[in-house]
Amino acid sequence: MSFRVQPAPVARPNRCQLFGPGSNVKLFEKMAASAADVVNLDLEDSVAPADKATARANVITAISDVDWGTKHLSVRINGLDTPYWYRDVIDVLEQAGERLDQIMIPKVGCAADVYAVDALVTAAEAAAGRSKRIGLEVIIETAAGIAHVEEIAASSPRLQAMSLGAADFAASMGMQTTGIGGTQEDYYMLHDGAKHWSDPWHWAQTAIVAACRTHGVLPVDGPFGDFSDDEGFRAQARRSATLGMVGKWAIHPKQIALANEVFTPSEAAVTEAREILAAMAEADASGAGATVYKGRLVDLASIRQAEVIVMQAEMIGG
Ligand code: COA
Ligand code: MG
Repeated sequence: MSFRVQPAPVARPNRCQLFGPGSNVKLFEKMAASAADVVNLDLEDSVAPADKATARANVITAISDVDWGTKHLSVRINGLDTPYWYRDVIDVLEQAGERLDQIMIPKVGCAADVYAVDALVTAAEAAAGRSKRIGLEVIIETAAGIAHVEEIAASSPRLQAMSLGAADFAASMGMQTTGIGGTQEDYYMLHDGAKHWSDPWHWAQTAIVAACRTHGVLPVDGPFGDFSDDEGFRAQARRSATLGMVGKWAIHPKQIALANEVFTPSEAAVTEAREILAAMAEADASGAGATVYKGRLVDLASIRQAEVIVMQAEMIGG
């Protein structure tokens, strides 16, 4: 038991992060009008090298010109292993309006990667006289990223969220799959001759959740590539929510409602959580630290579990 109080992450809904290529300007208004909590304008892997400069200019214009409503607005810059990233940061911070909330750093491999971007952001922000402090979010999608996940989670007070990027992660780890998240055909146990599929993303997700919860960062599940498979998306998202993640990316508008559905605590879950809190208040009044709710034990830890659900529902409800 540590005497340190676990820091709370930023209190804003992050159920769905909708991505769109910075080169595809006709998507911007649709992204702004969507039901996603976060919009990620992409300068990285959905933009071809020849389009990088145009995409950057499109995004800079759109940050001011599009009405993003209450969305948390983030730009995904190029990786630190490219010649593009520094100009992504500098041009965006010097030329884009104050509406921008966050910068997403892909393929982060160590805390120093975040330090480098933080240093550049801090200098550019001050030089441009920006009044709003830009947040950072990172993608864990390399072997180095997952090996150094805790130092990355602790790397900067600007850091608000951390996502698992399944496709690049699989490539970096040398995993034998071209699937982006979800069930992997060859990852199974045999029992009495029957296959039981396991979850190859589970360990990385729990490592991310633990690092994030230790340092007050939002843990987020990344993309699910097969946007024709609603049940596959739901199954992946439900596992992530069960493990403590707060949201998931959408790489197609079809996935937004699915993510919002899974990462908004259901009415039944909220009712049950409130009943547990009421049962524990009654137990407390009679001097007991534990009681029975629907035939099962509830105690002081149950209060903390129920509070996670109630607080999430109240935060989302505004
Ligand atoms: N945001 C908002 N609207 C989107 C969208 C997005 N990311 N992707 C597609 N739409 C819109 C389309 O414009 C179309 O609108 P319309 O009905 O008004 O014509 C509608 O949703 C249906 O689109 P659909 O035809 O099914 O898809 P598409 O072939 O146009 O595009 C993708 C498919 C995958 C190329 C596109 O969804 C996309 O670019 N996704 C984001 C990719 C990305 O950012 N990747 C980086 C993170 S992994
Ligand atoms: Mg990636």
